[in-house]
Amino acid sequence: MKGIILAGGAGSRLYPLTLVASKQLQPVYDKPMVYYPLTTLIEGGVREFCLISTPHDLPRYRQLFGDGSRLGLQIEYREQARPEGIAQAFRIADTFIGKDPVTLILGDNIFYGADAFTQAFSSFSQGAVIFGYHVQDPERYGVVEFDRAGNAISIEEKPKQPRSNYAVPGLYLFDNSVVSIARDLTPSPRGELEITDVNLEYMRRGQLKVHRLNRGFAWLDAGTSSSLHEASAYVQTIEKRAGIKIGCPEEAAFRRGFLSLSALQTLITSLPRCEYRAYLESVADEGVRA
Ligand code: DAU
Repeated sequence: MKGIILAGGAGSRLYPLTLVASKQLQPVYDKPMVYYPLTTLIEGGVREFCLISTPHDLPRYRQLFGDGSRLGLQIEYREQARPEGIAQAFRIADTFIGKDPVTLILGDNIFYGADAFTQAFSSFSQGAVIFGYHVQDPERYGVVEFDRAGNAISIEEKPKQPRSNYAVPGLYLFDNSVVSIARDLTPSPRGELEITDVNLEYMRRGQLKVHRLNRGFAWLDAGTSSSLHEASAYVQTIEKRAGIKIGCPEEAAFRRGFLSLSALQTLITSLPRCEYRAYLESVADEGVRA
């Protein structure tokens, strides 16, 4: 399965933070925001990525990740000239996707807890899989209603009167039909190619499955100054308490077998002496003992 990280948009809600660095490059506690969704996909077993961002911000991401080989990954980059909708990503990345299934993650969505996605990734074969997360304020999101077997019954984008409390987080798994579905979409009244319209088409075909994310699983969105601050505080609390790091792509790539122990050790020697390096050294030491 191929992976798209969508990290564009104007980031206007975070102004003036976003004057010089895009939203997904802002720090969430001890690392850039984009590390978290990248790590989520690596944990799901994704190794080939296309990162989409604005022409202005793309050079920064290249600086951060290069071609991905340092992490045992392949990373390509594509520009989204204007934020014309999440589903535009499938048009922009069509040659990257080729004939494969693809997962898309939004660059400002942070997930933490258990192995909620592992099974969804490993068992995926066809159609579309989205997730349902119980929230207090569903009207801010895509909202899904589903039956006991996990089949979607309705899905609406930011409805005034939500039919359920299940919001749809920004992580989606699609078979290759997504390329033609996205190609045939028309812009919504707000002028965007909507991800919800892609999901609606899968639902019409009877192929939209919903995995409910259980209690204890955290889905954080870091789109406003307050939620960015809260996400940082959350990550700090967990990391300090448990002595682990959330959203560490080097660790995830190592544990997934994308990076050998010696490649991890070489990577570590290229880092400055800092807490992040000390953490990776502990991960490598554990690898030596295993
Ligand atoms: O966070 C989950 C929600 O994300 C879903 O529940 C909604 O169904 C989905 O439409 C989306 O809603 P948002 O209101 O959060 O979408 P927003 O326009 O804020 O875009 C989300 C991220 O994607 C944001 O970090 C910017 C990026 N983006 C967005 C658009 C429209 C792009 O990179 N390019 C785009 O064209």
